[in-house]
Amino acid sequence: MGSELWNEVDQYFARKLLMDDELERVLGANREACLPEIDVSPLQGKFLTLMAQMKGAKRVLEIGTLGGYSTICLAKGIGVDGRVLTLEVDQAHALIAEGNIRRAGFHEQVEVLVGSALDTLPKLKEAGHVFDLVFIDADKENNPRYLEWALALTTSGSVIIADNVVRNGEVVDAASTDGRVIGIREYVDLAQRDPRIESTAIQTVGSKGYDGLVISVVK
Ligand SMILES: C[S@@+](CC[C@H](N)C(=O)[O-])C[C@H]1O[C@@H](n2cnc3c(N)ncnc32)[C@H](O)[C@@H]1O
Repeated sequence: MGSELWNEVDQYFARKLLMDDELERVLGANREACLPEIDVSPLQGKFLTLMAQMKGAKRVLEIGTLGGYSTICLAKGIGVDGRVLTLEVDQAHALIAEGNIRRAGFHEQVEVLVGSALDTLPKLKEAGHVFDLVFIDADKENNPRYLEWALALTTSGSVIIADNVVRNGEVVDAASTDGRVIGIREYVDLAQRDPRIESTAIQTVGSKGYDGLVISVVK
């Protein structure tokens, strides 16, 4: 079994379960702008929408916007009275995301905050923000810092999701010198020992290869 079959199965489920021209347009715009194709897959995006719905999330924080694909998926799950704040270090990515968010009709609900997430997160804390759902999908090297901030910016019952935690299985390589793998392993260590959260991991295969998510709930 290999990635060709994963892809075919992904396409099968996407054809059956996803009917969203708007999101297809976002991917088209991202391709046209030559963004790297490192957004979540369409089925994973729908998972984020459903997760926000299941949680009844109204206040969502995303770390790592790119072209706003996952941002829009999250916005679709929060209803008209919800709000997504998404953090992006790259001004060019943020501009593309803002265009996509506007065209998708979510500009009233979504704000893209440009700057290094580690500079923006303390400002969100100072401003008194509390989030129901946090999606972490930026520079994996900083994942343990992002989990600390997520914990500082959430409350009992909040959900924290970290993407790309499997990396083709590299996560089990304790000798890895890849800063992203080290960041993820430190994130998992923190999730293991921090008494404030309960966590699990889900391995995924599909159009984005072999990867996975860590999902935590704040106690
Ligand atoms: C994997 S992409 C995000 C994909 C997006 N969540 C999606 O699924 O559509 C990671 C993004 O994080 C941004 N990023 C990297 N380091 C960052 C940092 N220190 N602060 C904020 N954003 C950062 C990158 O510029 C990139 O756009």
